[in-house]
Amino acid sequence: MQRLEGKTAMITGAARGIGKAFAERYVAEGAFVAIADIDMDRAIQTAKGIGKSAFAVHLDVTDQASIDAAVKAVDEQRGGLDILINNAALFDLAPIVEITRESFDRLFRINVAGTLFTLQATAKSMIARGKGGKIINMASQAGRRGEALVGVYCATKAAVISLTQSAGLDLIKHGINVNAIAPGVVDGEHWDGVDALFARHEGLAPGEKKRLVGSAVPYGRMGTADDLTGMAVFLASSDADYIVAQTYNVDGGNWMN
Ligand SMILES: NC(=O)c1ccc[n+]([C@@H]2O[C@H](COP(=O)([O-])OP(=O)(O)OC[C@H]3O[C@@H](n4cnc5c(N)ncnc54)[C@H](O)[C@@H]3O)[C@@H](O)[C@H]2O)c1
Repeated sequence: MQRLEGKTAMITGAARGIGKAFAERYVAEGAFVAIADIDMDRAIQTAKGIGKSAFAVHLDVTDQASIDAAVKAVDEQRGGLDILINNAALFDLAPIVEITRESFDRLFRINVAGTLFTLQATAKSMIARGKGGKIINMASQAGRRGEALVGVYCATKAAVISLTQSAGLDLIKHGINVNAIAPGVVDGEHWDGVDALFARHEGLAPGEKKRLVGSAVPYGRMGTADDLTGMAVFLASSDADYIVAQTYNVDGGNWMN
């Protein structure tokens, strides 16, 4: 049985990585998916690779006009949005005494303001349509506790967990469930970049940080994007109707709460 039959989803940052895996799985579950990304060339390529149930939409989550235009485009094309995954985010790394205002502002603009205002625009559209919906925010184990070199990113993901709680409590009266997924360490292009940053700051050989974090996961390896798709389908399905304002760890056992 397809669990998202006929549903329309917008997934931000879905041109690659985890968002792309979500889009592929959602289409396999019967959904239509808007691949909403700032990298339009790659979004088009990803949508083409998935097939006729996926389409690319330009979205810069730091720009309100772009958010409003993307939600409107999906509404017009599909007659409304059932599901949003707030997945676009950036990472950076620096010791506390070297954090720059530029890095702080950039990460908060994308990871926090981008999540909130994309959620807001989608919620307005869902409320006007009157059919409820499901909103999933991408948090991280980094939002559960600080890390010496990862102060700003950790703070943005703690903010995503907090916003998930507030939005979840406020929007459930409209039949909109807001929940979050907190992955651990997920291999892919994102972590290639993270590994290179750690190599520079900790003097490690390329690939060494990945090996270290992977061997520290209780499950025994880094996660893959596909490890997360089951939770993303569950939270978007009617099986999750009674789940409100929660953040679920999908991290091979790294974190417990
Ligand atoms: N990979 C991991 O280990 C990991 C762990 C925990 C949480 N997460 C979270 O999961 C999500 C996806 O991570 P990923 O590894 O696939 O990342 P990724 O870097 O591979 O993909 C991010 C996507 O966001 C897009 N993007 C960047 N800025 C944008 C903007 N302003 N507007 C719209 N799109 C924009 C990029 O073009 C890219 O397609 C993120 O929220 C990330 O913080 C990832």
